[in-house]
Amino acid sequence: MSGEDLDNITKELRFHGGKWATAHGSYFSDPAKAWPLVDSALRAASLARPDVIADIGGGTGFLLGELRARLDGATPRLVNVDVSPQQLAVCQRRGIDPLLCSLLDLRREAVAAEGQRLMLLSRSVMHYFGREGQDRFLAALRAVLREGELLVQQAACFATPGEARCMNLLYPMMGVDKFYMTPEELVAAHERNGLEVLSVRRAPPLDLRSSDLAERYALDEATVERLCQILLDHGMDRSGFAVGDRRFRGPFTYRIVTARAV
Ligand SMILES: C[S@@+](CC[C@H](N)C(=O)[O-])C[C@H]1O[C@@H](n2cnc3c(N)ncnc32)[C@H](O)[C@@H]1O
Repeated sequence: MSGEDLDNITKELRFHGGKWATAHGSYFSDPAKAWPLVDSALRAASLARPDVIADIGGGTGFLLGELRARLDGATPRLVNVDVSPQQLAVCQRRGIDPLLCSLLDLRREAVAAEGQRLMLLSRSVMHYFGREGQDRFLAALRAVLREGELLVQQAACFATPGEARCMNLLYPMMGVDKFYMTPEELVAAHERNGLEVLSVRRAPPLDLRSSDLAERYALDEATVERLCQILLDHGMDRSGFAVGDRRFRGPFTYRIVTARAV
């Protein structure tokens, strides 16, 4: 894992572990918010019948717990692959194997035995790989899959080039290199990394608030004021954001991509 990827994580370590469940309006521990992704994963699993499902950047194991409760028939082995020991420390759900490992170091043998079918799941991880790392993320996912196996991932995604450009300005101002694409760019990125996109659907947005970001990334007031100005300059107040002088709040949007390794 590169220094930049690690930096994106160390910046928010105070948010990992026990605190993660209540972060961002409890988005990451809310079954209703997770349902479209869980539904997509259940459909993919009923199609592909995997022996193992690995959740890449699975955090506290919440998603795999939701999936496990709803899987029909024989439960595949469920593996939570995450680079944060703090996140994995709270992943003590029965039937989920934690694996402390960066996706970039992950080898297929660590999650699937010879002859086993693998399926990958991921939510809100791709943007951690920054502007230069998007292809690296997708290529690393593709590298652990065999032809025909499925990936179901929920990636942050902004509907128009203008919105994506705005978010890509905002995050570096908070000291983190996170990167966001439009739906068209997201599909093209999968396809050029050997992942044929089978479907794209919307997921519920996260309620992004400046107060949460200020806590997560230790932002001072002047920085938040500058962020407000960037949002206004890009017309984000016409894309569902409420922007004041010193605070803002708006939808952080996602798409769920189901793709097949080709
Ligand atoms: C926004 S959180 C999402 C957690 C979980 N997927 C969920 O939806 O609740 C991103 C997670 O990705 C993990 N992560 C970031 N970079 C990673 C990498 N290179 N390899 C594995 N996990 C990574 C972080 O530690 C964090 O737990």
